[in-house]
Amino acid sequence: MVKIAASILACDLARLADEVKRVEHVVDMIHFDVMDGHFVPNISFGLPVLRCLRKETRLPIVVHLMITNPEDFVDRFIEEGADVVVVHYETTHHLHRLVHQIKDRGAKAFVAINPHTPISLLSEIIVDVDGVLVMSVNPGYSGQRFIARSLEKIRNLHKMIREQGLETEIMVDGGVNEENAQILVKNGATILVMGYGIFRNENYEKLIATIKSGRAEFEV
Ligand code: DX5
Ligand code: ZN
Repeated sequence: MVKIAASILACDLARLADEVKRVEHVVDMIHFDVMDGHFVPNISFGLPVLRCLRKETRLPIVVHLMITNPEDFVDRFIEEGADVVVVHYETTHHLHRLVHQIKDRGAKAFVAINPHTPISLLSEIIVDVDGVLVMSVNPGYSGQRFIARSLEKIRNLHKMIREQGLETEIMVDGGVNEENAQILVKNGATILVMGYGIFRNENYEKLIATIKSGRAEFEV
């Protein structure tokens, strides 16, 4: 069954612990977006916030690093409680080393690709990672519109993974909503990240239940 990750970038950050507690019973993991104002045009939150959040939830925390020089920070994010670390293909020259650095420290390693990055560039690293995060918006903000071409990318990635007999997760991040969730799952997405879909949506419980049941109320 598809897993749902709540992206806290879209919540009321002044009430972070309460916001997480409000959605904990319906989501499978918390998605924690770290932005440095260099790799992406926004600055979010980092290590001290993760330290505090770790004490407030037992859900797995996925740290999505949208920062330059991620190798300088992955150990510290794992020490502060990251269960999964996602690093961008575009931010490092030594992805293989970085992925194994993450795994050696006991966390799961995912690689993220921006909308312009083709999945063919993952052909060598795919066997080493626990998952791929497909950015379906340009990273930097919650509440953006889903880029339609991402669907084909997910389908092709799913094919690549299946052909190699791998169990690699496919996480989709950006603009996931009631209209596209079902079709994303059908095309191979195994984890859906949602910011606005959860924190800016009064009917988030119903939406998640519908997605999980596989009953599409809306489809594109
Ligand atoms: C974008 C972030 C996403 C974002 C998702 O840079 O990586 O995780 O918060 O939010 P929605 O679901 O609102 O697009
Ligand atoms: Zn993210």
